[in-house]
Amino acid sequence: GLRQGWEILSSGGTPMDAVELCANVIEVDPDDSSVGYGGLPNALGVVQLDASCMDGRTYAAGGVASLEGIKTPASIARLVMEHTDHVLMVGPGAQQLALDFGYGLEDLMTERSRQSWLRWRERLSETDDYGPPEHLAGRRSGDGLGGLLEGPEDFHYGTTNVLAVAANGDISGITTTSGLSWKVPGRVGDSPIIGAGLYVDNSVGAAGATGRGEDVIKSCASYFIVMRMREGRTPQEACEDAIDMIVDRYRAIGNDFVPGEKFVAINKAGEFGCSSMPSGRNARMTVRHGGGLEIYEGSTRG
Ligand code: GLY
Repeated sequence: GLRQGWEILSSGGTPMDAVELCANVIEVDPDDSSVGYGGLPNALGVVQLDASCMDGRTYAAGGVASLEGIKTPASIARLVMEHTDHVLMVGPGAQQLALDFGYGLEDLMTERSRQSWLRWRERLSETDDYGPPEHLAGRRSGDGLGGLLEGPEDFHYGTTNVLAVAANGDISGITTTSGLSWKVPGRVGDSPIIGAGLYVDNSVGAAGATGRGEDVIKSCASYFIVMRMREGRTPQEACEDAIDMIVDRYRAIGNDFVPGEKFVAINKAGEFGCSSMPSGRNARMTVRHGGGLEIYEGSTRG
């Protein structure tokens, strides 16, 4: 995706076109289980996608939440931004907008995501009637449950942020996700919320979030990061400020829960940064710049 996005930028295209194409590449990839097609579904086995975009040149933004049946929610967020006077559309209304613009409905479950969901459901309870054959056979024979599949089907919040700054300083961003796996139907995370999962200020820079969306919404994290950069912090420092702010809030109420979030940011000069909480898995981001493709290691704190 970055290679294709870079081609757009280096041939004079807009950062908005570049980030949309990057996002689409991963959204349609059946092997990625965190966004778009093949993204892990909600508790009912329905894939509900969230995405947002923001164009620094125009101070325009769009988002879609709980969108079903369309592989590329980033592009539908862009439709909201460019073809309505609204910022956020949800569920059937967002889907209708996509249909109006010629998108077709598709089954977003792959065989892999369906099997993951089925295994998660089998493990929900040892007393319900769902389960692998061993589970039911074990119960019938009264000798315990046995036969549960190996390894828990962990929930996760996988998300993709794509941020771009063009040579002329214009900045755009997209955040796209299938959200929390096995979520309560209708749950919306931070990704479609401007200021939470994404924020762009053409005079400063852009930031995006992955991880536990509930904390990102409460902290307006992407907006916070961009405002820190406005005050002079580097992208790396601003991402770390956001991690510290959220962890401090939990510590202040005596809660030993440490959420799992990761933040990425770029500024108008093309500097970038990334920071993660320990449970946010890794503080790594992939960057394409004039020097080539780079895997950047940020910081882990919290
Ligand atoms: N950050 C993705 C989500 O919470 O849905």
